[in-house]
Amino acid sequence: MSSFPALRLRRTRASAWSRRLHAETVLTPADLIWPLFIAEGSQAEEPIASLPGVSRWSVDNIVLRGREARDLGIACIALFPNTPAHLRSDDGAEALNPDNLMCRAIRALKDAVPEIGVLTDVALDPYTTHGHDGLVDAAGYVVNDATADALVQQALNQARAGSDIIAPSDMMDGRIGAIRGALEGEGHRNVQIMSYAAKYASAFYGPFRDAVGSRGLLKGDKKTYQMDSANAEEALREVALDLAEGADSVMVKPGLPYLDIVARVKQRFEVPVFAYQVSGEYAMLEAAVAAGAGERDALVLETLMAFKRAGCSGVLTYHAGHAARLLGR
Ligand code: PBG
Repeated sequence: MSSFPALRLRRTRASAWSRRLHAETVLTPADLIWPLFIAEGSQAEEPIASLPGVSRWSVDNIVLRGREARDLGIACIALFPNTPAHLRSDDGAEALNPDNLMCRAIRALKDAVPEIGVLTDVALDPYTTHGHDGLVDAAGYVVNDATADALVQQALNQARAGSDIIAPSDMMDGRIGAIRGALEGEGHRNVQIMSYAAKYASAFYGPFRDAVGSRGLLKGDKKTYQMDSANAEEALREVALDLAEGADSVMVKPGLPYLDIVARVKQRFEVPVFAYQVSGEYAMLEAAVAAGAGERDALVLETLMAFKRAGCSGVLTYHAGHAARLLGR
């Protein structure tokens, strides 16, 4: 008898049905959160040059995107406003206006498509003239506690408009507990908090800053509040704090370069973990496709599966619409 390997791991890979049967991870449209940019105007679609295939939509158009997302089986939409220049200020007060672009979009979406979740970003950068996520002192430092107070008001403003998930992306200390307390105090018991718990000061956010119009405004960098890419233990401490303060789920951002963080957070805490495949990652993938380095559909699905395999409950991705269409076929 000729010798043979005791175990042939190729056996279960030999046919498509068997590969399907043995898949350890599944990816469905319900795993996707679709980040969408909103702008003033009516019937408006403004393409974003550094994010090919992504546009800013007017409030009437965002409703159409909401219906499209629902029909594709996408679970949730994330909204980001491009505030008109004349409404931006040092203190970002427009974030607290109950009729700002964000609140109008939330109301329109919840009216027209109540079946879909609406996640809203809490941070001041789309509203400030300096492009920072918080209030800046004379030395240019983003002050923590006064910013947290403003973020509480911003979160309440969004919750009153109908936001389902408050997602603070600012990285101030203590803001999750403060926001949770304020939401409970006003009776928003089932409004969730998805904390951007481990958010890194990353070079991958450039196209997003174009999309919300803060790129040219930003003074300096965000390294005094966003995390250093060298650090992983610190990410676990950030997550532990946000969970202790009442976060329902936590996010790691950016995505692919930080899958080690996703996996460690999932293993350590066993809570819902999300990742944000950010604008620079999207642009990088699209550039690779344009350069003939790979095939878009396969790259998109492989990338998103990697997030699930690492332990994500879901992924924020600008490819959500496209991926959901591929998965629904
Ligand atoms: C800011 C915010 C950023 C993103 C989401 N919220 C950028 C930043 O921190 O400067 C980036 C998302 C992306 O790049 O797709 N509060």
